[in-house]
Amino acid sequence: MSAASGSAVPENANAPGAANAAAAGHRAGGATLLALAGVHTHIGAYHILHGVDLEVPAGRTTLLLGRNGAGKTTTLRTIMGLWKASAGQVRFEGHDITKRATPEISQAGIAYVPENMGIFADLTVRENMVLAARGARDADAIDAERLRWIFELFPAMKKFWDHPAGLLSGGQKQMLAVSRAIVEPRKLILVDEPSKGLAPSIIRNMLSAFQQLKAAGATILLVEQNFSFARQLGDTVAVMDDGRVVHRGPMAELADDEALQGRLLGLSLGAHQ
Ligand SMILES: Nc1ncnc2c1ncn2[C@@H]1O[C@H](COP(=O)(O)OP(=O)(O)OP(=O)(O)O)[C@@H](O)[C@H]1O
Ligand SMILES: [Mg+2]
Repeated sequence: MSAASGSAVPENANAPGAANAAAAGHRAGGATLLALAGVHTHIGAYHILHGVDLEVPAGRTTLLLGRNGAGKTTTLRTIMGLWKASAGQVRFEGHDITKRATPEISQAGIAYVPENMGIFADLTVRENMVLAARGARDADAIDAERLRWIFELFPAMKKFWDHPAGLLSGGQKQMLAVSRAIVEPRKLILVDEPSKGLAPSIIRNMLSAFQQLKAAGATILLVEQNFSFARQLGDTVAVMDDGRVVHRGPMAELADDEALQGRLLGLSLGAHQ
């Protein structure tokens, strides 16, 4: 990979590759990178998603909000092919990925940080990172500049490099989960509730890391319940209820409208500072 230009952040941190037309507009234009149209998902006998329409613009952070059980995690899992959509379409860079297998979707450039973080407790931080890097057999195969950048984002990863991941604190495990997702350039990062269960000081660290990821041009689809965290990161927002997207628009609009927050998210006045 080429050297960073004028910052500590590797070029093409997560944004679409230079060859992709979307890359040129990732800050200014925000061309659609991922689109769900009329997506239905059944889990066994249960009909969970009832026609989800969602667009994720390149180079932006899209927040997916909604009450418990609204279908946010199911939407991320459906994008990753972990649940198969029973109707509708998921398109990534203009290609229909609805029926693709999960490894193929991952290969296409989508990283997923699930709510349970998906890290290996018995392995060291280093081993967890090596496993996340496609094709890397050891840590030397991880791009050194990218690794330095990750260590700047999350110094604890450097400090605990040879420690078993199971011994990390909850916040550090979450940092490892995000580090794994960005160990290689990805076009899109899906993250499920990264602030969940974390102490306020760790949430601030996490917020700052996501802000740096954003500044590097990453495209992120972030599920959150913590509205004060969400409002500081989101460019656009989609709110789900009962397996559908019931509101979409700029985050600033929702952040400024407490009545709308109350209606869509059940937030009471003053619940978010
Ligand atoms: N494996 C499953 N089997 C049956 N129902 C499920 C399963 N997983 C999720 N559901 C149901 O699907 C609905 C949506 O769940 P989902 O986990 O997508 O919601 P969510 O918006 O992520 O909620 P939360 O904020 O609590 O994480 C819920 O009613 C849930 O009970
Ligand atoms: Mg969930």
